[in-house]
Amino acid sequence: MPAIAVLGAQWGDEGKGKATDALGDQVDYVVKFNGGNNAGHTIVIGGEKYALHLLPAGVLSPGVTPVIGNGVVVDLAVLFHEIDAIEARGVDTSKLVVSANAHIITPYHTTVDKVGERFLGNAKIGTTGRGIGPAYADKMSRLGVRVQDLFDEKILRQKVEGALELKNQLLVKAYNRKAIAVDAVIDELLAHVDRLRPMVVDSSLLLNRALDEGKVVLLEGGQATMLDVDHGTYPFVTSSNPTTGGACIGSGIPPTRIDRVVAVVKAYTTRVGEGPFPTELHGAEGQKLRDLGSEYGTTTGRPRRCGWYDAVIARYSARINGVTDFVLTKLDTLTGYEKVPICVGYRIGDTVHSEMPMTQTEFHHAVPVYEEFAGWDDDISKARSMADLPDNARRYVEALEAMTSVPISVIGVGPGREESIVVRSLV
Ligand code: GDP
Ligand code: IMO
Ligand code: MG
Repeated sequence: MPAIAVLGAQWGDEGKGKATDALGDQVDYVVKFNGGNNAGHTIVIGGEKYALHLLPAGVLSPGVTPVIGNGVVVDLAVLFHEIDAIEARGVDTSKLVVSANAHIITPYHTTVDKVGERFLGNAKIGTTGRGIGPAYADKMSRLGVRVQDLFDEKILRQKVEGALELKNQLLVKAYNRKAIAVDAVIDELLAHVDRLRPMVVDSSLLLNRALDEGKVVLLEGGQATMLDVDHGTYPFVTSSNPTTGGACIGSGIPPTRIDRVVAVVKAYTTRVGEGPFPTELHGAEGQKLRDLGSEYGTTTGRPRRCGWYDAVIARYSARINGVTDFVLTKLDTLTGYEKVPICVGYRIGDTVHSEMPMTQTEFHHAVPVYEEFAGWDDDISKARSMADLPDNARRYVEALEAMTSVPISVIGVGPGREESIVVRSLV
């Protein structure tokens, strides 16, 4: 069986966790391939709410083996805290495995993330403060500590010393902070090693063998296309590749084995942190959408910035990721609006762009061009087929589909596991 990627199409929080969880009884492995505990996926099962950060959403499905892939950055204290918290609620996490090549978020990464943001002042990114950027920076600078390094104390010491040499200069001289002691970092990392050891695997070998045996592997993205360090709104992005290319790199599964690319897209748009957002609604209009959609961050609790659906971004995501199916979420949130606008292009200076402009300077100046669609009033949360939707809701979905030329295969009408319309099976 081939692999399926499930990715975010916008700026995150589209409902990737719910989409992944909904496929839990049809897949054998769920692999988190990028990011770390900057992610926050809320999943609602039988009225019970679960907030996952580092654990793949597949952990909630008994038949699934959850995998933390090599592309992830792992904060071990957070990992074990999350495992303990979810085990206490009766969820079995014993199948969880972790790639030997995944990088470790150390206490100095979290410190550098927080002080770095403060140092940037108005130019800050609005990161989650979880050490994500500094951990990936060390990975690229070849100063990172990987899971496998914890099994060789001599190597671990060399790596931590190497990483701290320059960082301590920076902390003390530029940021006016205390230096971080090598021994304290090593002790903290080694405190987790015995518990971690049995979980560690060669995840690329495991997953490719599973595919050889006909198993179904789902690659679950954290963050989203517009937060991609290459394809997003740089520098207002995360430090990984949440796109299809990143799914291959972060799991060791080659592109030729992925045959379904599912992008999750909200029926409107949200964003957390700083950076451009053409369809953003400000003031009371933004607050109305925030309240209707309960748009507050799962990880940091920050109010999410809210705005209308942006078809330019959806088309861009379809192109960058090679999307075969969209999962449209939170259609129910739009119930009650008299008119629902969709952004179909950007006016930049005297030109209307129907594709993402080439430069971020242009994108920062993009003024949305809207097409308005008639709204609907009927509660749609019980709809389980397209025929159950009010005509105007169906027209809205059909318009979105026509604008990207990619089928919308699933439509979310509520947060619960069962609250979806499945037009076309994703597995
Ligand atoms: P993720 O990071 O992409 O997994 O998304 P989050 O979990 O951060 O945010 C999505 C929120 O929307 C969560 O609170 C979900 O429970 C909720 N959600 C997902 N799909 C739907 C839907 O179709 N309708 C409604 N009302 N809520 C949804
Ligand atoms: P999920 O997986 C929404 C944003 C942060 C910030 C930027 C960089 O739940 O969709 P980072 O800590 O990654 O260096 O922050 O990226 N961000 C997210 N926004 N959902 C997420 O994850 C996010 N993960 C990071 O708010 O703007
Ligand atoms: Mg989220």
